[in-house]
Parts: sequence; C-alpha cells; structure tokens
Amino acid sequence: MVAKHLIFLGAPGVGKGTQAQRLAKLMDLPHVSTGDMLRASVQSGSEVGLCAAALMESGALVGDEIIIRIVEERLLLEDASAGVIFDGFPRTIHQADALDNLLAAHGDKIGAVLHLDLDDEEIVARLSGRRVCSECGAIYHIRYHTPTVYGICDLCGGALLQRDDDQPAVIRKRLAVYQAETAPLIAYYHDRPAYHLVSGEGEADDVFSRIVKAVEVVG
Ligand code: AP5
Repeated sequence: MVAKHLIFLGAPGVGKGTQAQRLAKLMDLPHVSTGDMLRASVQSGSEVGLCAAALMESGALVGDEIIIRIVEERLLLEDASAGVIFDGFPRTIHQADALDNLLAAHGDKIGAVLHLDLDDEEIVARLSGRRVCSECGAIYHIRYHTPTVYGICDLCGGALLQRDDDQPAVIRKRLAVYQAETAPLIAYYHDRPAYHLVSGEGEADDVFSRIVKAVEVVG
C-alpha cells in the first residue's frame, strides 16, 4: 500500500492545527504536529525541550537537525506506516528536502500539500484569542470557537490555557519568521500536482469542506 503523507502549509494561526486534527480523524491517520511534539518535550524537560524552549518562546524556529530527527523517529512508529498528516512541518527548504528523502527511502512521496491562506489581520485576531486544552491539545477561541463551560475543554475536561507564544510581540515575530523562512516553501511545492491552495477564510466547517475537496482532487 502506498502511504498517504499530507502536509499543511501556512502562516501561524491560519488554522493548520484545527483543520489537521479534523482531517486526521476523517482519514484515520495520525496528526503529527512538530509544535505539539516540541511543547511536550519542553514540558517533560527532555534534552530536545531544553534546546527548544527559549527559541519557541521568542518566536524563532528550532534548529533543522532537531526537527528532522524527531520527525524521523515519529515516522518509524507503527501507526505512521499508512501515512501521517503533518502540521507545522516542514518549515524550511532544508526540512522539505529531508522529508522528500525520508519518504523516498520507503518508496513514498507527499500525497498532498494543503496551503492554507489568510490575511494577516485575521491571523492576529485568531491567534490572540486562541485557547488550547492543557490535557488533549483541542483548540478553542474566545469568540470563534468557545467551550460549553468557560475555560474547560468539552472533550476531556482539561483546563484551557493561552500559549506563551500567543502574545502580540511574539505573534509579530512568528509572522516575520514565516515570511523569511517558510514562505519560500510555497514556490518549492507550487508546481507539484500534490500542491493545493485553500482559502482559510470563513467558518472552520467551510474551510474543512474545501480541504476535503482538495484532497479528493489530488487523490
Ligand atoms: P506551531 O505550534 O506549529 O505553531 P504555528 O505554526 O505558529 O501555528 P499555530 O499553532 O500558531 O497556528 P495554526 O495554523 O495551527 O492555527 P490554529 O488551528 O491553532 O509552532 C510553534 C513553535 O514551535 C514555532 O514558533 C517554532 O518555534 C517551533 N516549531 C514547530 N515546528 C517547527 C519546525 N518544523 N521547525 C522549526 N521550529 C518549529 O488556529 C488558531 C486560532 O484560530 C484558534 O483559536 C482556532 O480556534 C481559530 N480558528 C481556526 N480556524 C478558524 C476559522 N475558520 N474561523 C475562526 N477561527 C478559527
């Protein structure tokens, strides 16, 4: 069976995590968020976490070698054999080359690149109101996606928290880093048949319908 590896590409706050969680459920594939993996490492105080903490807090990218190593290890787990949904990876040309090589070594390739697009003003509104479940990682928003009980996750009852890097100055830095280091990936993938530009505007349900259509088109 050919594995199905999908990538969500787009600026911070565009909705990659929200949509990747939903698509992972629909396609029954693991959701692999390098941001979530790094935050778990920071919390556990592991070697990776110690290297990553200050960079993440400032809005800078974590080094390619660390990221490529944790992705390589993740792809070796059994549940990744049918493919995974990447969220926040790759983020540099070097990471994208490494991913192509990793997949090619197993006779696989990227099945779809879903490039979510949204204007900066809306991105800032989404990021500054985001709340994330401290237990299961479910994503909420103080206006756009509120939980039934204030501050409590609908899915697991965990406390909803604001991420340290969702402060205005760090948001600005993350957007600048995206333009400098990750936006070049748009040209990198643009001419591949797997590439698909999807508008991130409007309700999450509408964005999800566009994504499902795009995945069907690229096959
Ligand atoms: P990471 O965790 O990947 O953060 P990010 O890319 O900045 O993306 P976000 O999680 O902020 O946004 P999102 O697009 O997932 O939006 P979401 O769905 O949550 O990375 C964090 C840090 O880790 C990086 O800065 C870096 O330091 C490091 N890192 C991670 N990966 C790395 C890598 N590969 N290389 C190097 N360093 C790496 O939505 C945002 C909000 O909007 C939510 O509140 C949501 O409810 C709301 N929302 C979503 N969709 C809609 C909608 N349609 N309408 C209204 N509201 C919506």
